[in-house]
Amino acid sequence: MRSILQRPLDRRRFLAGSAGAMGAVVFGGLGPDVLSASALPPQVADWDAGSVLHLLPTVSDSRMLLKASFVRPLTRPPTLRIGSTSLAGRMNDTTGTHWQFYATGLDAGRDYTLSLVDADGRSLCQPWSLATFPLVDSRPERFRLLYFTCAGGVSGTYRGIGDRTGFLPTEIRNRLLRRALSFAPDAAVANGDHIYWDLHQWQGSNPGALTALARQSNFDFSGSVFDTSNEAALKAAAGPQIVPVYGTDFRSTPMFFLQDDHDHWENDSASDEIVNFPIPWFQLQLARATQQLYYPEFLPDARRPTGLPWSGASDRGDLSESFGTIRYGSLAEVLLYDVRRTMTLAGPSAVFVDPEVERWLHARTASTEVRHLVHGPSNPWGWSAGKWGEWYPDILDSDTGRLTTDRPKPYWQEGWVRQHDRLAESLGAMRGRTPLVVSGDLHAIAIGEISRSGAVELSANPITTVLSGPVGTSPAGFPSVVRGVGATPSTHLDLDETVAPLEEHGFTLIDFLQDRIVLRLFRWDVNREPVDAIDSLDAFYTTEL
Ligand SMILES: [Fe+2]
Repeated sequence: MRSILQRPLDRRRFLAGSAGAMGAVVFGGLGPDVLSASALPPQVADWDAGSVLHLLPTVSDSRMLLKASFVRPLTRPPTLRIGSTSLAGRMNDTTGTHWQFYATGLDAGRDYTLSLVDADGRSLCQPWSLATFPLVDSRPERFRLLYFTCAGGVSGTYRGIGDRTGFLPTEIRNRLLRRALSFAPDAAVANGDHIYWDLHQWQGSNPGALTALARQSNFDFSGSVFDTSNEAALKAAAGPQIVPVYGTDFRSTPMFFLQDDHDHWENDSASDEIVNFPIPWFQLQLARATQQLYYPEFLPDARRPTGLPWSGASDRGDLSESFGTIRYGSLAEVLLYDVRRTMTLAGPSAVFVDPEVERWLHARTASTEVRHLVHGPSNPWGWSAGKWGEWYPDILDSDTGRLTTDRPKPYWQEGWVRQHDRLAESLGAMRGRTPLVVSGDLHAIAIGEISRSGAVELSANPITTVLSGPVGTSPAGFPSVVRGVGATPSTHLDLDETVAPLEEHGFTLIDFLQDRIVLRLFRWDVNREPVDAIDSLDAFYTTEL
């Protein structure tokens, strides 16, 4: 296709040049090639991305929020045209490469044509379409939702079956997502761990010390994130983990990005040397800035209180950073909650989510106006990998190689599992709906039924729990490698594993229909299957709820 740009760009040369100018000064050991070759978006065959590097939208029934970055800074605001109306972009960084576009007052259930133009009216990319969700009281026949987790990581190497290092190369991650998109989902959830750039060591000989990546970034931990060298270092670390994975592929698919531990630039771990959460102030600002620059926050929902933590109105709009709602007519509602932001260490009264967030979850779970109600926490239900920051008390017994609760898990909080069980009770009390929890964080694909959680009896209405499938996991990132034990049912509950956790890459498609939910689980085994197999990947497991 002929470029519609008035001044076509050589993206590769542009990126190499801009990185070369900044790299030596800012990034210390982080070479300029990190910004150049690895930060390029995937090529698009049937659409002209022009000077757009990445584009990630979200929608509700009346609003759209788009995050975009461009190959060169825009000194004057670009304009987003939606149908016949135009709105100016808002610069989200200090250099003019990252912008957001926030439209309100749109018609529900309408397929809009969008276009981006610069301040002189020149096209920045080819027009494309994006639809708002149906009215909340409408009765759509079907809603298809794509779900995956752990898509972050700096691109690793792949030389053939079984021969790879590091995180899955970003082009293979993109290929998995393109296969998922070929099933035409109406929306997608990226449930946590969009970047891996942990700043402190959590194991090894010197836990608590800066990692090699942290030394490369050379952050000024007492500085502000924006308008300092910190901003360039953030982009150098996060951009290559996001731009080449998504590019502009999701321009017509509303996305919901939930943050988890690594999005706060840390692993969830606790030892006598360092307890990583609640996250220190500077890393909290890094997490918020990453979201501000690269992927949309959650749009408001009339049934979600505007005063929940990390929600509110600012000059960027009324947005929530950690708690989101996917509401598709009266057919489906998915409650997304990050458990890291508001977790406390208060023993029996500790929480993962703030009490006001818990109240919202209970209220929505008890409501009856939506046909299907799903919980989407940022970390898993049902299974444990023996990690510190889990709902459950299980820990690895190194003598037996199994999880145990016979000894205490250091720094784990009793209140976390108490909150879990209060939510489980709420889910089990739903009538006429199948309780479903689809989670992230855990590098595995699985599905099972929880029939008891602690003292909460659920056999009359068991909770289906799904590990949605990781997209970018490195060989050492699977639970059985990193912690010496695979994801295992927590001893806190009764879990019937329909599909026991598979340590492979994959994703989940959920079809919400008026009379049922259809779950399709996809797997791709990097150690046994060629990359080409991704293009014809089909569900290995399908079930109806
Ligand atoms: Fe995580």
